[in-house]
Amino acid sequence: MTDLGLSGLKGDTVPDVADDGVWLTCIECGHVHPPFDDVIYTCEECDGLLEARYADAPTFDDFEGRGVWRHSSALPFEEGVTLPEGDTPLHYVPRLEEDVGVRNLRIKHEGMNPTGSFKDRGMTVGVRVAEEVGVDRLACASTGNTSAALAAYGARAGLETLVLLPAGKVAAGKVAQASLHGARILEVDGNFDSCLDIVQDLADRGEAYLLNSLNPFRLEGQKTIGFEILERFHDDEGRFPDRIVLPVGNAGNTSALYKAFRELVASGELDEDQVPKLTGVQAEGAAPMVEAIEHGWDDTERWDEVETRATAIRIGNPVNAPKALPGIRNTDGTAVAVSDEQITAAQRDLAEEGIGVEPASAASVAGLRKLRDQGEIGADEDVVCLTTGHLLKDPDAAAEAGADPEPVPNDTDEVLAHLQD
Ligand code: F0G
Repeated sequence: MTDLGLSGLKGDTVPDVADDGVWLTCIECGHVHPPFDDVIYTCEECDGLLEARYADAPTFDDFEGRGVWRHSSALPFEEGVTLPEGDTPLHYVPRLEEDVGVRNLRIKHEGMNPTGSFKDRGMTVGVRVAEEVGVDRLACASTGNTSAALAAYGARAGLETLVLLPAGKVAAGKVAQASLHGARILEVDGNFDSCLDIVQDLADRGEAYLLNSLNPFRLEGQKTIGFEILERFHDDEGRFPDRIVLPVGNAGNTSALYKAFRELVASGELDEDQVPKLTGVQAEGAAPMVEAIEHGWDDTERWDEVETRATAIRIGNPVNAPKALPGIRNTDGTAVAVSDEQITAAQRDLAEEGIGVEPASAASVAGLRKLRDQGEIGADEDVVCLTTGHLLKDPDAAAEAGADPEPVPNDTDEVLAHLQD
């Protein structure tokens, strides 16, 4: 069993299988694997989830440059296929902050990445690894954003891409992206979890290189969200935030942020009590992580029926739960479910501050509000909410949440009369 505690990476010894100080460790049985010799996604001994490990833990001083590759000292390579990604804004939202009632509220808007979601951070690293292991077809299952990012980064790298989507359940902007960037799009008569089952089978049969968050290298790229939040918040406020609230689907980001914190604890940059509380938010119709946190389970139970307007997180079998649940617990965080109505209300709240997000992203703010109202989050907390995808990803949801256009005659006087009504 691997130590998934906050200090678990301290004193990691470099195994013989390491390549240039990088290797893979199974989080269940601790078996170590060479990182790039064979294409593997889970442990060859016990099928547990794998985690990338490094000879040296990163310090803030190691970070230089901009974007994801600023943090290359914490990544398996110095550079990769880039568009470029990362370096997203950490918005101030003074009115929302006052309305919710916390000391500081900042919004880390990942919708400002090149394809409009945080997935680009994972793909810049994941596609670089795909080049290293020498594959020619990339594949993923997706609720939409992963497919858009994979299609763009695959195109950039000149590699064939295959995406499996749940038919009728992917927002229009995302399908359009995957399509224009030239991915082959397979629409499966099932939900996201069934798509992932199929693409995992294809990967196991050697038909494609899997770039879902089951691939440990994708999470390495997504770790940089954590580094950026800590660096920027500290520059602005002279301390680290108390809490990070984020939407949860497959729990990849939750796992990735926790990994970033563990690495900084290992290098001595963060004390354990300075680590932000990871707080996951799911939609009520797709909340297996919330269920697992509430029951104290080590893994989630698969929900076969899932439904929510926030299609990006319409997921019933979060594959990264064994990494993410310790992350939530060991940081003293929590998980909460919100209704689709609360999600839409939060989408409007953010829009009123000029920040346009897709529904799943707004779940973070909806969850913060709910936990604050319940008194589980205190008025004295410094909170960062992660908004994961751009408004234009789901134009139908945005139009439904927003004001209707008003038809007017083709005449200035009549337009004025209409405005005065
Ligand atoms: N927010 C958005 C906008 C997403 O697209 C996703 C996941 C999540 C949150 C959840 O993140 O899986 O790390 O917990 N989208 C995946 C996809 C599943 O296929 O685009 P997670």
